[in-house]
Order: sequence, then C-alpha cells, then structure tokens
Amino acid sequence: MALEQTFVMIKPDGVQRGLIGDIVSRLERRGLRLVAAKLMQVSRQLAEKHYEEHRDKPFFGELVSFITSGPVFAMVWEGQGAIAVVRQMMGKTNPQEAAPGTIRGDLALSIGMNVVHGSDSPESAAREIALWFGGETPLKYERSMDRWI
Ligand code: PPS
Repeated sequence: MALEQTFVMIKPDGVQRGLIGDIVSRLERRGLRLVAAKLMQVSRQLAEKHYEEHRDKPFFGELVSFITSGPVFAMVWEGQGAIAVVRQMMGKTNPQEAAPGTIRGDLALSIGMNVVHGSDSPESAAREIALWFGGETPLKYERSMDRWI
C-alpha cells in the first residue's frame, strides 16, 4: 500500500464541542502521522471553493454557512492508504448510518453537523491540500515508532 497524504478538517461543531483532541488522538493511535495543521476561520470564498462540486445541491448554502460559522482545525495526515483509512474511520456521511466505533458513529447525530471532513480520493486529497495549505509544504519527518506500524 502506497504512502498517501489526505486532508482532514474538524468542522466548527467539532471545535466548539472540544473534540479536537479525541479526533487527533484516534488518527494518531491508528498510526497515521500529522504533517500539517492549523486552527483557522474559513472565508466564504475558501468554503465555496472547497465544496464547489456540491454547488448545485440544495444544502450548499447551509453547508457554506456552517463551515464559516466558527473556527475549523485543518490538517494533513500521512500514512499507508491514508485516504481510505481516514474515510473508514470517519464513518458514513450521515451519522445516523455511521457504525459505532467510527468518529461520526460515536460523536455525531445530524448530517448537517457531522464533525469531520476527509478527502474522498487521491485527486480530492491533492486538490484540497493545495487549496488549504498551498505554499506550505507538509513536514517530512520520521517518528521512532514508525517502524512498528
Ligand atoms: S452527495 O450528495 O452524496 O454528493 O453528498 P455527500 O458527499 O454525502 O456530502 C457532501 C458534503 O455535504 C454535506 N452534506 C450536508 N450538509 C448539510 N445538509 C445536508 N443535508 C447535507 N448532506 C450532505 C456532507 O456532510 C459532506 O460534507 P463533507 O465535509 O464533504 O463531509
């Protein structure tokens, strides 16, 4: 399995509910490596660009308002098969359908406030990392524990 990088965002509901530590801890304990992170207020322009593929969906306005409603914690995580692994750990988009043990299955109830976003493909990961961290290069480093993962 190839080493991949994926974009992960803890949404405003996750930040407001004090879930940053829990979510970061789950990803770290799985063996993924954090290579970039920032707490930030999202502009309307960035939110619309990030979700541009959903522009024609009925919930687009609500989604943009929600993502710009408070700080988000934007991250890049690295690891073998990281894109699919994070998606699996997040659980289904609708928390009502997300399996227990997943982030959304454990921590969320409504589709509008589902705590976390993760890239859904290598193409999305590349686009989203460039969009959110463009110009900033994710760190390259090794942890002594990496040879045990
Ligand atoms: S779709 O319709 O299958 O393409 O949508 P999906 O990929 O499941 O979801 C895309 C993002 O939109 C959010 N979403 C919603 N927000 C508010 N209200 C409703 N009804 C709704 N449905 C979907 C969903 O959480 C996804 O956000 P991200 O950040 O990509 O997880």
